Amino acid sequence: MRTLDDSPRTRIRIPTVIMDETHQTLQADPPEQARPEPVATPLPGQTRHLWWQRGVIYQIYPRSFMDSDNDGVGDLAGIEQRLDYLQWLGVDAIWISPIYPSPMADFGYDVSNYTDVHPLFGTLAEFDRLLEATHARGMRLLLDFVPNHSSDLHPWFLESRSSRENPRRDWYLWSDAAADGGPPNNWRSVFGGSAWEWDELTGQYYYHAFLKEQPDLNWRNPEVQEAMLDVLRFWLDRGVDGFRVDVLWHMVKDARLRDNPPNPDYVPGQPPYEELLASFSTDQPEVHDIVARMRELVDGYEERLLIGEIYLPIARLVSYYGEDGSGVHLPFNFQLITLPWDARAIAAAVSEYEGSLPLHGWPNWVLGNHDQPRVASRVGREQARVAAMLLLTLRGTPTIYYGDELGMHDVAIPPEGIRDPQALNMPGVGRSRDPARTPMQWSAHANTGFSDAESWLPVSMDYPRFNVERERDDPHSMLSLYRSLLMLRSREPALQVGDYTPVPADGAVICYLREHAGARFLIALNLGHAPTIVEPAHPPVTGTVACATYRGREGTRVEGRILLGGDEGLVIQLD
Ligand code: GLC
Ligand code: MG
Repeated sequence: MRTLDDSPRTRIRIPTVIMDETHQTLQADPPEQARPEPVATPLPGQTRHLWWQRGVIYQIYPRSFMDSDNDGVGDLAGIEQRLDYLQWLGVDAIWISPIYPSPMADFGYDVSNYTDVHPLFGTLAEFDRLLEATHARGMRLLLDFVPNHSSDLHPWFLESRSSRENPRRDWYLWSDAAADGGPPNNWRSVFGGSAWEWDELTGQYYYHAFLKEQPDLNWRNPEVQEAMLDVLRFWLDRGVDGFRVDVLWHMVKDARLRDNPPNPDYVPGQPPYEELLASFSTDQPEVHDIVARMRELVDGYEERLLIGEIYLPIARLVSYYGEDGSGVHLPFNFQLITLPWDARAIAAAVSEYEGSLPLHGWPNWVLGNHDQPRVASRVGREQARVAAMLLLTLRGTPTIYYGDELGMHDVAIPPEGIRDPQALNMPGVGRSRDPARTPMQWSAHANTGFSDAESWLPVSMDYPRFNVERERDDPHSMLSLYRSLLMLRSREPALQVGDYTPVPADGAVICYLREHAGARFLIALNLGHAPTIVEPAHPPVTGTVACATYRGREGTRVEGRILLGGDEGLVIQLD
């Protein structure tokens, strides 16, 4: 341990000062250094950074996190049992995928009652207890809000489909057949086939962007808007800290139901949905008016957060911040998932994203979720460590997907065990999301400590090695790396809210600076497997390793050149 007195930081920091005729002090440092000290400021209208700007979000897929009643499916009481773990890990908020009553055609993303809890997960009283226990630990709780579609068994849809004259007919999207008797247009379902389902009883088609068991609500109807805003109020009044809004960019469709154009970049073998560009079925200008209504409502409560699930190119994505902050606080940024794991591509995308943010736009980064292959499977176990460092040191709110902190990877599921409708509906092309939804690995006990019963999806074979109990005592584990990164981040405002400056680097290396109030961190990440040397011209690198993807280098000095091992990442605190 260095003492403060012999620290090179104290030595080097003494500036060379000269006085000019007007007795103003001038620093003799290079011109770049003479710039005013950058101070990361909160967004316009804010006097301080809010919890969700400083904090880290952790996504829980409730079916797979912890099963308290041994029915093989995770539940709310299970989450409550594991809150101490999350607090120890150092996350600030949990987002829980849908827990509402649902026939489970899409595992909860088909809601049949927006203001209750599915008995599988527990009761409203148990939810209140979980919320209180989360708050008692200084953490926040976000719910998943699924406004684009309900279940086909939701009473609203049952009424809507009962007759053309039903007052709720217009709550969903009904349309006559085309002249040839076929669907009204060429829109496809994300889960395969036409997005239109023929309804024999009333002789019309209804639209479903996902399963036919998930009819889309008609958000142009003011009654639908009111009913759904009431849902938000219901949960906000109970004390939830915000929402992740499901498929936000799907919510409004072209009023004239124009055909979608073909996608010139379609590659055969991709899901059939990709064959067309969703130009008329998604991302319509009117969606922003609806988001503005949600935002206004949420802003009536203190420090609540709205996140939007939006898969769009950056230029379109940032429009969801809305004019003057009338959009969602965080349009989810999925670039670390969708881009190839390539240093140049990612560095360029970070710059493009940073450069595209509106003045009031706070950035965010996501590495995994319940719809995507796990990061450890996408980039490999070694690079997953580099990815963790990237996620937790870029500027913006990070979201961690449960189990990624253990290095969990996709679990092979035999064809007869597939549960995901995305795979079952599109045999051959539909990628199953089950492999990324397997039970959280708690211990080496039977069923990995998740449940005494057989779990709804199988547990990974390697759970005896990769689990919380074992990894928390191993300084070299993925879990220890996540925890050190989270601890470092919570200690250092520069990493939470500091400015971001890219530092030019070549080849497989990504390099950037985070700084706030005089504290500066240089992050150097090797996305390749071969060792390499980084020698940034500016800023000159003299500092101490604060965190390393592989243990042992913390506390060591770096002077001028950074030697990076293959798959290595370093956070260096500059002097
Ligand atoms: C979102 C959810 C996904 C679900 C779909 C339809 O993309 O994340 O899991 O299948 O919406 O609700
Ligand atoms: Mg259970």
